[in-house]
Amino acid sequence: MSGFSAQWLELREPYDLRARNAAVLDAVLDRLAGQPSVALVDLACGTGSTLRALSPRIGARQTWRLVDNDPTLLARVSPSSGPGIHVTAVQVDLHRDLEAAFDTAADLITTSALLDLVSRDWLNRLAIAAAARRWPVYAALTYDGRAELAPADPTDRRIISAVNRHQRTDKGFGPALGPSAAQTAIEAFERVGYTVSHGLADWEFAPTDREIQTEVLSGWADAAREIGDPTPREIAHWLERRRGLIAAGRSTLRVGHVDLLARPSGM
Ligand SMILES: C[S@@+](CC[C@H](N)C(=O)[O-])C[C@H]1O[C@@H](n2cnc3c(N)ncnc32)[C@H](O)[C@@H]1O
Repeated sequence: MSGFSAQWLELREPYDLRARNAAVLDAVLDRLAGQPSVALVDLACGTGSTLRALSPRIGARQTWRLVDNDPTLLARVSPSSGPGIHVTAVQVDLHRDLEAAFDTAADLITTSALLDLVSRDWLNRLAIAAAARRWPVYAALTYDGRAELAPADPTDRRIISAVNRHQRTDKGFGPALGPSAAQTAIEAFERVGYTVSHGLADWEFAPTDREIQTEVLSGWADAAREIGDPTPREIAHWLERRRGLIAAGRSTLRVGHVDLLARPSGM
């Protein structure tokens, strides 16, 4: 499964939904409460997981503009998500043309699993573009570099360190912020005068969550191979041991994420 494939996004969606920080989500819903209709723009929407997470909980008519650069993912966005919910899917390369995504009216910008992929420059552009319109931003599920595997294996730390180095390579937006994205985002929004609420939104995989653990750890092995540390042989043996633990129903995994809501001050 590739990083943004529909299969991978489908596999992770229930875990993302469970991980979303409840206090941050409540603050998002509070922000939208009391309006008869709301307009939302979801950046890097994939197949629409944020739409599916939020729309049933918003008690108002909704107009969603879902933006991504991948037409195959956009083709999977459902145009009818329920009564009073209007959805438009728009293809935009957010690195080249962030402003095209903002060419509309909005009460809230949303995104999920995006900010760790972007560069510091792009994040500043996002903060400035949002602030120019006084739009609040809800950014969920930003990877923050924490990973805990149990039972522990002597090679875990080197693999996680390689993954975190790989996270900083270019993912299409310039050198990625990776594990520092959440803190950088908080600071970028505070610099443009926003108040930021944030909280942890960790993935927690139980021993029975075999498929997602296998996918995550295979992805980590690929990342470590690209970084070149540990050696290919050490990586292969590590993956074999970890897969053995998963198959035996003995493996648990926690992966650190942060959710945030950034609001223009005075809102
Ligand atoms: C990790 S996925 C998250 C998708 C979705 N937000 C979710 O949580 O399921 C990252 C998304 O960013 C999109 N993406 C990557 N580069 C992009 C770009 N330059 N412009 C627009 N979208 C981009 C991918 O197509 C993918 O849908």
